[in-house]
Order: sequence, then C-alpha cells, then structure tokens
Amino acid sequence: MERFADIIVKKKEGLALEEEEIRAMIQDYATGKIPDYQMSAMLMAICFQGMTDRELTAMTMAMRDSGDVVDLSRIPGIKVDKHSTGGVGDKATLIVGPMVAACGVPVAKMSGRGLGFTGGTRDKLESIPGFRMELSGGEFFQAIQKNGISIIGQTGNLVPADKLLYALRDVTGTVDSIPLIAASVMSKKLAAGSDKILLDVTTGSGAFIKELSGSRELARRMVAIGNGAGRETAAMITSMEEPLGLAVGNCLEVKEAIETLQGGGPEDVKVVCTALAGMMLSLGKDISYEEGKEQAQKALESGAAYDRFHAMVETQGGDTACIENPERLAIAEISGELRAEEDGYITTMDAEKIGMAAGLLGAGRETKDSEIDAGAGILMKKKLGEPVRAGESIAVLYTSEPERLDGALSHMKTCYTVGRRKPEPLKLVVDIIR
Ligand code: URA
Repeated sequence: MERFADIIVKKKEGLALEEEEIRAMIQDYATGKIPDYQMSAMLMAICFQGMTDRELTAMTMAMRDSGDVVDLSRIPGIKVDKHSTGGVGDKATLIVGPMVAACGVPVAKMSGRGLGFTGGTRDKLESIPGFRMELSGGEFFQAIQKNGISIIGQTGNLVPADKLLYALRDVTGTVDSIPLIAASVMSKKLAAGSDKILLDVTTGSGAFIKELSGSRELARRMVAIGNGAGRETAAMITSMEEPLGLAVGNCLEVKEAIETLQGGGPEDVKVVCTALAGMMLSLGKDISYEEGKEQAQKALESGAAYDRFHAMVETQGGDTACIENPERLAIAEISGELRAEEDGYITTMDAEKIGMAAGLLGAGRETKDSEIDAGAGILMKKKLGEPVRAGESIAVLYTSEPERLDGALSHMKTCYTVGRRKPEPLKLVVDIIR
C-alpha cells in the first residue's frame, strides 16, 4: 500500500488522484489514521493544484458516506433543499423556506451554525425563545406533515468528515478553495436527503469566494456534482457585495425576516428571496422560473408564507408572541452609532468586515464552542449608493458587553467609503446556472 506521504507528493506535483486513494484518504482521516499535519499538507496541495471533476465527485461521495445519510422518502412530494455558500445578514432561509412551503413544496431542512464572519440559520432560529432545533426523526416528519416545513439542526453524525476537515481548513488558510468548498457543501446536501437542490452561491466582499469568475466556477462544479449524483441541482449567483438587508446579527435578522414576511422589509431581501423561492418552486413543481417567482411573490404578499413561519415556530416550541410582535425579540441594550464624517454617497462597503464587526460585538463565535450573544449585531441605516450627510447615522451597533463597543465602532469605520459619485446599482441576482 502506498504511504499517504506519497499521495501528498502526487497531488503536490499536479497529478490526479485515483478514486480509491481519495476514498481511503477521507476514511482514514475521519477515523484518525491520518494525522492533521499530513491532511493539512494535502489540503494546501489541493488549494494550489485543484481537483478534476472525477476527483471532486469521489471526494464528495466519500465525505457524504462518512456518516448518516438521511432518508426523506416518507415525506410525500419532491423535496427541494437550499444552501447558501455563506453571507453576511443572510436571513434568506427564514423567508424562502416558508414561501416555498406555502406554495405546496415541502421543506425539510437542516441548518448549521455560523462559520467565520458569516451567520448561520441555526443560530438565528435559536434566538427565538424556546425554539427547538433538535427534533427527533418522528417529530421532524410530523412537523413537515403538519406545516409543510421544518428547519432543524444538522444531526450530529451528518458528514463528520466535513466537520473535521472544515475545522482544519479554518486554521490552515485553506477555506477559500473552490473544490474544497464544493465538496464540503455538496457532501452535506447529498447526505441531507432532498430530491433537488438549489445553491445560493454568493459573490462579492461578503462571500468566501469574492470574484465573480470564481463564484461561477464554484456554482458550475457544485451543479455538476449534484446532477452527477442524480439530484437535479441549480445554482443562483447572488450579490454579497453588501450585507443582505439592513440587519446583521441573530435577533436583528429574525426581526427583519418577520417584518419581511409581514409585508415590510428591505427591498433587496424581497428581491433575492423571491428569486430563490421562485427557483425552488421551478425545481419542485417543474414549472418555469417566472411562474415560480409569481407564486412565491403571491405567497409573501398574501401572508401565506408568514402563516407557515408562525406555524413552524409554534410547532417547534418557540414563543409566537415574538413572531406576532417582533419588538419583543431581545436586542442587546448597549448601543453606539456610526456617523458619516462627510457628505456624499456610500460608494463601497466591505461586507466581510461588517460581519467581523458583528462578531466583535458578540454576534459570532470566537472559538467553536463559545456562546453567542443573540441580541448583538448591527442595524444599518444606509445601503450602497445612498446619500449621506456629515454627522448622519450610517449604522447602529448593539452589544451586551460595553467593553466590546469601541473596538467594533473603530472597525466599522473601515467598512465604508463615502464619495462624491453615486455608484451603479448592484445586480442582486447575477446569474443562474442549471
Ligand atoms: N459552506 C460550507 O458548508 N462549506 C464551506 O467550505 C464553505 C461554506
């Protein structure tokens, strides 16, 4: 048998690995036979040399098979899953899931916690008092039968190889590799059991892959893996040049999601969510994207999507008074304001840095086991391209720990530029890959 050290050299020299070599590598790493230092070298070699489609499919399948593979066949109908490659202020799942369920496509979704500067749906839903992300298999199926939707935490044993690899990538500078992101996302989607998959591939300053060409490549490769595995997969490339909506942070984002479901909410949130829901409906009902968008919009405007969200929260033990009156969600009490220093337009915004500022306020985890402050975060008062006057508020920062405020405020000052010329409006849905 070849030594793993020789397989690392093979990849380092740009040669393609055999399927069996990849399968053994994932199995041996997941069971502790390959140490972190060797796997780190392999990950770095993959970052520089890339992977062929065959290698990538082999890696994804081996990762999927490292733990439980969920069987959703008990739920009637075509189940469509959605996954975002990560963003700042990205509360889309909270809105899109109920929109799709209201149109008759069941949503059986598992969501993870935040990663790095990006937030996670699990943390957001857990900021609703009492909301249970841990349901038994029976409870999960019953909830979907009753409401057409349930969102739960990822089961402990879903793709354990990804948990180990992700933690290693996070500390070895190997997160932003297209094949490694593609295998990480698609192994989880294939293990989660839905019939069809919509990938929201973010692009811009708040995405892991910031260049559009890279986002397109990531989308193309993930779509190829999904379709190759017999699950119809589409990708929508959406802008993360600035945070989605105005709210960044768990309670603040839930509040904004409820406001959107109640008929208000920021315009960009509505546009992106209607597009994503429209595409999920197109996949789930075999209808055109345009027709999907029309149905999704009606579900939002009629309040049908809000009703599904309310029902989901009730069934999963959450306090529905907070849904009926989102002012009751506990936003942190200490606040500080970021004010513009000159007149002009907001010309650039660094969404990754805004995500980090939210982390500094306590909205993210410093280590993987640390507690988050659900009420911490940032409420922006201005979006890209909007005019500002010197002294006017650009954003309000919230935290429960006063000592966090000054650092976050100075960090936030580096997130914006104000200039004389109004920038071109952003294209929110940049491309669709089917
Ligand atoms: N999201 C994932 O699930 N994995 C990655 O590697 C990046 C984003």
